[in-house]
Amino acid sequence: MRVLEIASEAVPFAKTGGLADVAGALPGALADLGCEVALVMPGHRDAYAKGLPIESTGIEFEVPVGTRRPVARILRCRVPGSGCDAYLVANDEFFDRPTLYGGSSDYPDNAERFIFFSRAALELACRLGGPWDILHCHDWQTGLVPAYRALEYASHPAVASARTVMTIHNMAYQGLFWHWDMLLTGIDWKHFTWREMEFYGQLNLLKTGLVFADAISTVSPTYAREIQSSPGGCGLEGLLSARRGVLTGIVNGIDTRVWNPATDPHLPRPYGEADVEAGKYAARAALAARFGHAAPDARPLVAFVGRLVEQKGIELVLEVLGRMAAAGRAHFVILGTGSGEYEELLQRAALMFPGTVDLAIGFDEGLAHLVQAAADITLVPSLFEPCGLTQLYAQRYGSIPVVRATGGLVDTVVDATPETIRDHSATGFVFQGFDAAGLEHALARAMTAHADRPLWNGLVGNAMRQDWSWRSSGRDYLQLFERTRAS
Ligand code: ADP
Ligand code: GLC
Repeated sequence: MRVLEIASEAVPFAKTGGLADVAGALPGALADLGCEVALVMPGHRDAYAKGLPIESTGIEFEVPVGTRRPVARILRCRVPGSGCDAYLVANDEFFDRPTLYGGSSDYPDNAERFIFFSRAALELACRLGGPWDILHCHDWQTGLVPAYRALEYASHPAVASARTVMTIHNMAYQGLFWHWDMLLTGIDWKHFTWREMEFYGQLNLLKTGLVFADAISTVSPTYAREIQSSPGGCGLEGLLSARRGVLTGIVNGIDTRVWNPATDPHLPRPYGEADVEAGKYAARAALAARFGHAAPDARPLVAFVGRLVEQKGIELVLEVLGRMAAAGRAHFVILGTGSGEYEELLQRAALMFPGTVDLAIGFDEGLAHLVQAAADITLVPSLFEPCGLTQLYAQRYGSIPVVRATGGLVDTVVDATPETIRDHSATGFVFQGFDAAGLEHALARAMTAHADRPLWNGLVGNAMRQDWSWRSSGRDYLQLFERTRAS
């Protein structure tokens, strides 16, 4: 099975969220199962700042984008820890930028950038030589790949028999653009209809991918169901339910080489289940020092790590933080970056409760690891969550997740009830409605459990023993690819 993974970000080259974790780890997981896999992604500026052994391939070609023909230069590097090649599509005009997609607003030429990337990825597949079995596309940035394969490359020997799989990581980002950007795609206007590429007058790149792909997947079974109706489908529920015969949900794995408390270089002291308390204490001391405290305090440490956007339930965190920090019952640590408004509100809370609320605004991979190791409890109160990785990392690091019952959080966290505690399946605390009272109640349950040492140690053990490695998800992807190839 020959697979080309096509994504706009991948660890360790460039990352804004979970997509990068998945795209960086999946190639190795598939290779372990006997696939021949390569990854192609844009040559973002970030990729060159990591000291990775990136080399030129000498492959260079022009890519038609509207009336222009910008040049794609292809660089290569191994995906660390796997035998797979990563190809970086370099073009300084499009990708030599400080951030991947823009700052407080998107880059105005994002349509052009990802039309260029999608065409370049397919052209590269052809130049590398075929035949490819599967072109695996991730999110709106690669949504045109299935369309180009079907409309322009159907008879190219390298990809003629290739099947396309479109994986949705988040329905809330669809790559919606001005209808005139259709001209940049080079695709005939006859495809600009509600059945294919058009969405309420705009060009919709994710929809394009979902229409033209041979198979569709998303990152958890529950989310696969949620997106077939409103509001989960974000306007594409009709299309997704019409295509439900080829739609599956596969929970993300985690890269256990990168996220492993026993070997994690970001921690002051490695630990496993047997010495979790000592490991966590050392991590808390390091975290306290980082925030300028003389020593860690004895209260439960409650953490939040994530993008500061509506999806992640920051409003609920802010409300509960205000009440619980005032009562002084827990110590909070928050690491995130995102909307200016949320950043400001969190800064205000941190100023109001010094010594109780620690805040780090920014993107800091090492600190994310340290926080998960130090925390007793990790909050994931999302409005919606296609899969979510933070609750999986939390479990592995012995931090108990408190999550809302949505998307992948339903599939990966087992609420602590008398029954699940008894049968050792409990791994966290789950609440239903998207409101602060629900989060507060679940957090209060977690704090009560925390005060009961034997109970808490049991929960931590259950969580740490979960196997969220890519082993089983990799197999599910392979089965999906085999099914799709045979279709
Ligand atoms: P999403 O992809 O929606 O952002 P996930 O839970 O799937 O959510 O993945 C988030 C990933 O990004 C995790 O690896 C998490 O540790 C990381 N992350 C999010 N915010 C930050 C941050 N401010 N600093 C470091 N890592 C972060
Ligand atoms: C998206 C989702 C998140 C998921 C990640 C990786 O960013 O918001 O839930 O874990 O993609 O699939």
